[in-house]
Amino acid sequence: MSTIAIFNPKGGVGKTMLSVNLAWAAATLSKRRVLLWDLDAQGASTFILGGKGKRHDAAGAVIYRDVEPEVLIQHTNVPRIDLLPADASIRSLDAIFSEIDKENRLKKLIAGFAQQYDLIILDCPPGLGSTADQVARAADLILAPIIPSTLARRSFHALREFLDRHHKGGPPVYPVFNMVDRRRKEHRETTDADPGCPAIPMAATVEQMGIRQLPLGAYAPRSPTARAVEKLWHTLEKLKHDGKKVL
Ligand SMILES: Nc1ncnc2c1ncn2[C@@H]1O[C@H](COP(=O)(O)OP(=O)(O)O)[C@@H](O)[C@H]1O
Ligand SMILES: [Mg+2]
Repeated sequence: MSTIAIFNPKGGVGKTMLSVNLAWAAATLSKRRVLLWDLDAQGASTFILGGKGKRHDAAGAVIYRDVEPEVLIQHTNVPRIDLLPADASIRSLDAIFSEIDKENRLKKLIAGFAQQYDLIILDCPPGLGSTADQVARAADLILAPIIPSTLARRSFHALREFLDRHHKGGPPVYPVFNMVDRRRKEHRETTDADPGCPAIPMAATVEQMGIRQLPLGAYAPRSPTARAVEKLWHTLEKLKHDGKKVL
């Protein structure tokens, strides 16, 4: 079992889009048993995957270890994707982790899934607080979606600095350009300067995920955006760090 955290301290950069669609690629193209853990109280992944809250305070109770994750985990409309949904009780997740004061709480909860799942995807909230510390210790790989603009790239550097300073570099971190619009000069120049970095194009069809409550691959598998996520997934499958496969 491996854990990928989709993380960037900035909001609105495509963490949820990437979480849901990578889950789809892993489950559908590679038949992995995937658990998507929605750690963002806004619950965008939960909504897209059709999650239904059983108890409105359960997501927080799982972190406190008052409720077994299995109570909350649900199947989704996509075969082999299960969801650990978010709710308002993790609105102050940083404060919850600080209060619990167990450095490896998230990592240990995830270790409990080793029998049932091949891949855990963490859809992370923005910020660089104690949730980010937990994520840095729990993840085998961090994917950081960034919009190819100067401001957005600064948030990636903030993440790098945070991991170097507080986590001895942490797990491998890979940036992924998202919402790439090659009609824009800044996007063209930024992506061309870094050809090794995966680039996911901007497309209106992405917004339909919320309306259809499905990942892109389920309704527009041939769209350039779905294809780019597919390519990214196959790259991740082969990815090596220090000579060892990451996933
Ligand atoms: N490649 C893309 N093309 C078009 N819209 C996108 C793309 N990626 C994300 N979006 C849209 O941008 C908004 C922010 O994306 P989201 O995944 O929710 O970001 P985050 O989880 O980082 O806050 C959403 O409305 C989403 O549908
Ligand atoms: Mg999100």
